[in-house]
Amino acid sequence: MTKHDNSNQKKPMKVLFVCLGNICRSPAAQGVMQAMIDRRGLSDRFYLDSAGTYGGHAGDMPDYRMRSHASKRGYMLTHRSRQIKGSDFEDFDVIVAMDESNRRNLSRMAATVDEERKIVMMGRYITKFPNYDYVPDPYYEGAEGFELVLDLLEDSCEVLLESLLKQMK
Ligand code: 4NP
Repeated sequence: MTKHDNSNQKKPMKVLFVCLGNICRSPAAQGVMQAMIDRRGLSDRFYLDSAGTYGGHAGDMPDYRMRSHASKRGYMLTHRSRQIKGSDFEDFDVIVAMDESNRRNLSRMAATVDEERKIVMMGRYITKFPNYDYVPDPYYEGAEGFELVLDLLEDSCEVLLESLLKQMK
C-alpha cells in the first residue's frame, strides 16, 4: 500500500436488502452480492445485511426452498431473519427494496428526507429481464419462482455493485 492509498482506511459502505419476510429474496440478495464482492476481493469495502418489513419469521433461517435453489448455484445462505428497525435508516448507507410494497413500507418508516433518499428499488438495476422492474415474491410459487428470483438477483447485484463502486470513488 502506498502512502496515498487510503482504500483500507475508508469505512465500508453499508447496504441493507429488504423484502417482506427476510427468508427468501433479501437473504438471497445478500448472499449473491456477498459472493460477487468476495470474488472481486472487495470484502473490506462493503458490509451487507438484510431485513424484512414483517417480523413474523424473526430468527428463522432462509426458507429451505430458497436455500436449496441458491446452494445449487454455489450460494450458502446463513442469514437469520430479522425485522427492519428505525436505527437501520441511520446505520445503513443504502436500503434496497425488492418490490413496490417493500418500498412503500420503508418510505413510511424513514424519519427524514435523508433517510428516505437511502431507499432504492432493486428493479432499477435489473437489465437483462425487460418484463421485471421488481423482484417478485416467490413464497407461494413453485421452483421456477425461486429460480427467477436468483436470475434477477444475479443480474441486478452485478449492476448495483458497479453503481456503488462508482459512487465510492
Ligand atoms: P420474502 O418472501 O419476502 O422474499 O422473504 C416471503 C416470506 C414469507 C412470507 C411472504 C413472503 N409470509 O407470508 O410469511
